[in-house]
Amino acid sequence: MLTDSGTNAMSDRQLGAMMIADDAYAGSQSFVRYQKAVEDVLGKKFLLPVHQGRAAENIITKAFVKEGSIIPMNYHFTTALAHISQYGGKIEELLYDEAFVINSKRSFKGDMRLEKLEECINRYGVEVIPYIRMEASTNLIGGQPFSIDNFRGVRRIVDKYGLKIVLDASLLGENAWLVKQREEEFKCSTMGENLKIMTGLADIVYFSARKLSSSRGGGIRTNDESIVRALEPLVPLFEGFLTYGGMSVREIESIAVGLYETLDEDMICQSPKFIAYLVNAFVKKNAPVVTPAGVLGCHADAMEICSHIPQPQYPAGAWAAAFFLVSGVRGMERGSLSNQRDEYGNETYADMELLRLAVPRRVFTSSRIGADMLGLLLIPSLQEVT
Ligand SMILES: Cc1ncc(COP(=O)(O)O)c(C=O)c1O
Repeated sequence: MLTDSGTNAMSDRQLGAMMIADDAYAGSQSFVRYQKAVEDVLGKKFLLPVHQGRAAENIITKAFVKEGSIIPMNYHFTTALAHISQYGGKIEELLYDEAFVINSKRSFKGDMRLEKLEECINRYGVEVIPYIRMEASTNLIGGQPFSIDNFRGVRRIVDKYGLKIVLDASLLGENAWLVKQREEEFKCSTMGENLKIMTGLADIVYFSARKLSSSRGGGIRTNDESIVRALEPLVPLFEGFLTYGGMSVREIESIAVGLYETLDEDMICQSPKFIAYLVNAFVKKNAPVVTPAGVLGCHADAMEICSHIPQPQYPAGAWAAAFFLVSGVRGMERGSLSNQRDEYGNETYADMELLRLAVPRRVFTSSRIGADMLGLLLIPSLQEVT
């Protein structure tokens, strides 16, 4: 249960498509199929292929971020922040306070606080803000989605100030599904409609195909030719030719199929439903897990479980190790250990100290999830181990 990154199981159709890949350095038909799938599922005109999500971040930040840039965002992901700081930029995180409350009923903890966004733009000035970043299913606060209503609000402010939005769509599929479950206006809309509404609100959309399409690879999408002109020269330099971007043709084929599968509600709901099952079972036992259930996995609060371990001693890291010793299940520390050091190499402390038990797509059965649950319910003995 370490991660969902590239560990979502591929479907038979994805594996089959890999067998018919067209292995050409340039002009591969596999790339043509990839282009069509991205256009059908995510909309937008231009596609720049990259080998994974962080490669897209590298190209976007290299093109737009410089010393003194400020990037307002709902919340950072580790690789996004690392790229922004590498080019001298700083981030401003604009979530609602309740996003950090472990036990909450707020449906969209990934929403950006709109008045804070406007205040941030006025404080720093538009000249230093190359773009606003929105992350779907905000990873580090427990896989929590944003609402389309909130995203529309972000777009209104961005338009008022003539800025751009970059959408990290790596976890957009599950975010779109949760919108359907939790946002009244979209209860009857299809996955395809929700996805296109969300990508339509952004100027640049990038994704890790390790997540979005249960495969490997990635891509950057935009309608804006001036953005393509800024990003395109960096793809051959860092990734590979513009028709493979560092990916094998087999990966490209599996992304194309995986993107279409993202439209299938029966497929996309599997992981969030299993996560909700796990989260709700823990809640019944008063175990401190992030609620409402989000995506990616079940996130348990190490600050509470390991309240005897101060943050400089990495409570989430300690608990991840103890949890493995006791249950045999490997989860991932999502806390200060994964946090970026400051510019002087000093420790910085994460807003949350979480142990993530990832539930990748099509990997576990419900009985396996039940067995893992038993491991986590050994919390009293875990406290002894830590
Ligand atoms: C929200 C988000 N953005 C970007 C990335 C980076 O993608 P990759 O691991 O493909 O480089 C990840 C990976 O976990 C992610 O969760």
